[in-house]
Amino acid sequence: MRYALIGCGRISPNHLGSAVDHHLEIVAVCDKKAEKAEALLKRYSLEGIPVYTEYQKMLREQKPELVAIATESGYHAEIAIDCIRHGCNVIIEKPLALSMADARRVIAARDEMGVIACINQQNRFNKPIQLLRKQLDQGNLGKLFHATLQMHWNREADYYQSPSWRGTYALDGGALMNQCIHGIDLLRWMMGGEPTEVMAITDNLNHPYIEAEDIGLALFKFKNGGYGVLEGTVNTYGGNLDETLSVYGESGTIQIGGIATNKLTCYQVKGDSRDFDSLSKEVNTEPKNVYGFGHSFLYADVIDAIENHRTPYVPLEEGMKALEMVLAVYKSAATGKPVTFPLGDYSTLDVLNQ
Ligand SMILES: NC(=O)c1ccc[n+]([C@@H]2O[C@H](COP(=O)([O-])OP(=O)(O)OC[C@H]3O[C@@H](n4cnc5c(N)ncnc54)[C@H](O)[C@@H]3O)[C@@H](O)[C@H]2O)c1
Repeated sequence: MRYALIGCGRISPNHLGSAVDHHLEIVAVCDKKAEKAEALLKRYSLEGIPVYTEYQKMLREQKPELVAIATESGYHAEIAIDCIRHGCNVIIEKPLALSMADARRVIAARDEMGVIACINQQNRFNKPIQLLRKQLDQGNLGKLFHATLQMHWNREADYYQSPSWRGTYALDGGALMNQCIHGIDLLRWMMGGEPTEVMAITDNLNHPYIEAEDIGLALFKFKNGGYGVLEGTVNTYGGNLDETLSVYGESGTIQIGGIATNKLTCYQVKGDSRDFDSLSKEVNTEPKNVYGFGHSFLYADVIDAIENHRTPYVPLEEGMKALEMVLAVYKSAATGKPVTFPLGDYSTLDVLNQ
């Protein structure tokens, strides 16, 4: 399968490494800064593979079947639509877009062209997350009362100052849109997928040089009658501490912590007598950073989806739902009022006009 990557920055090794793992035919990589694309190829001993600085030219000349888009978040929608219009299947880094209107435009383009498109919310593939999902699918936790998502991470000035798009409303958003969106996706997915209302506060307490939030706190109501509590911050002194999802149901409590929802920290399910230590051993992982191992699983799924003409495990609709959650939090925080779902049109830039 002919594969190309657009955007050769911080997250790009997870993409190129996954393409290598799955024996894709890497036909080109593209970055506005050629030296970044060249450095990435060198890291994988792939020198000689064509490097482009204009992705349109790359699409025309190389005709990739699958393209991964890992540029600044504010460019995802436009680049994805261009790739889709060239007939490419796409993997789009989170977040899908920074406005609901753009997210809908990407989905419409996918439908028009009939390609396979997936959003890179890779933590859905974490083994403890898969275990929790299976228990919920089998109804083993009974009625869900509430779930919490806590992300206690750390980002310092150097992270935001170079490159400078980070923390801007035009190209990024803050702790919730960039870092916490993975956990927010999991919170929604586990709580039945349909929030009805949110009340939220966001603030910037420790990063005066960025526009967006470094802390966000929110309370969600879900259609299933349960609640969600969100606490996301990049102000944690001393480094990334944990990202923890806890789900409380009438017949089960499951908590998944670790640095990025990768470790089982509590497992109590009625009628399930499996030993906690051996279950933990089976599902826990030790990733070297918060990005985890999910990219490779996500690539395996998308390749299979393309080969078998099926919907990928994390389709764009799931990316739009996670985006909707974050934008609803932004709107509630900006207006000081509860916000109901569906959100309708809203974008990160609307925060500035509220
Ligand atoms: N899934 C995850 O866990 C995860 C982790 C980190 C970042 N991300 C997401 O990945 C995206 C990239 O983040 P990053 O930290 O790697 O950013 P980065 O700034 O390190 O890299 C982005 C690269 O894209 C290039 N680029 C921009 N416009 C381009 C264009 N038109 N054509 C070709 N290249 C272009 C830039 O020159 C830059 O090198 C963001 O959307 C971010 O939210 C996801």
